[in-house]
Amino acid sequence: MRYKLVAGNWKMHGSLAENQALLEAIVPATRDLARVDVAVCVPFPYLQQVRDLLAGTHVMWGAQDASRHAKGAFTGEVSADMIAEFGARYVIVGHSERRTYHQESDALVGAKCQAVLGAGLTPIVCVGETLEERERGATEEVVARQLEAVVDAVGAAGLSRCVLAYEPVWAIGTGKTAAPEQAQEVHAFLRRRVAERDSAVAEGLTILYGGSVKGASARALFSMPDIDGGLIGGASLVSEEFVAICKAAQ
Ligand code: G3H
Repeated sequence: MRYKLVAGNWKMHGSLAENQALLEAIVPATRDLARVDVAVCVPFPYLQQVRDLLAGTHVMWGAQDASRHAKGAFTGEVSADMIAEFGARYVIVGHSERRTYHQESDALVGAKCQAVLGAGLTPIVCVGETLEERERGATEEVVARQLEAVVDAVGAAGLSRCVLAYEPVWAIGTGKTAAPEQAQEVHAFLRRRVAERDSAVAEGLTILYGGSVKGASARALFSMPDIDGGLIGGASLVSEEFVAICKAAQ
């Protein structure tokens, strides 16, 4: 039986004061949840702060991107090893905002995944279709292509150390959550695709849903058999909402 995971993606939000207030609300309120892992993925400059605030608690932390390179003349990039030094557990890889605004290709996402695994961290690998792709019936083709690029890079064994996140682009930050059955259909498809390579990896793989999840919509999504939790954007910045989502994962 897979544990549920609820991971907040703060995106480019926060301040030292806001982060502290948020975490001081979240930690005690999610402490006693059964079979639910809780994490926050924060902007790089706050890794030290979240480490100081979260070390010794049940809440894990991570980053939102990492370089494909281990080190070198790559101005502005941050390596997975650097992130690991701050006690992080997770790194989001291939978020649609990176794919869209930073032209990240499937191959680059695969290489980043490899770099994150190499640092001993867990990639949260995002896949998902745009509205145009969904409307022309290409959802499965798109998410399969994105998934295959990762499996090509890290193999089934590498994938077993990843978390997958299905995030339909049309649902991100739009208030339009996918219907639970609609999301389940894609999650089940992704798990079947992984099973074609390795059924044990498919069975153990945590697949999160992301896209306008709120406290009110979380329980129905998380009750689907192939939805193992959520990657939460906007609602992860509001302690009451994030706590309600974590509780819905129980
Ligand atoms: O990584 C999180 C997703 O982009 C979802 O963001 O919950 O604000 O729609 P959202």
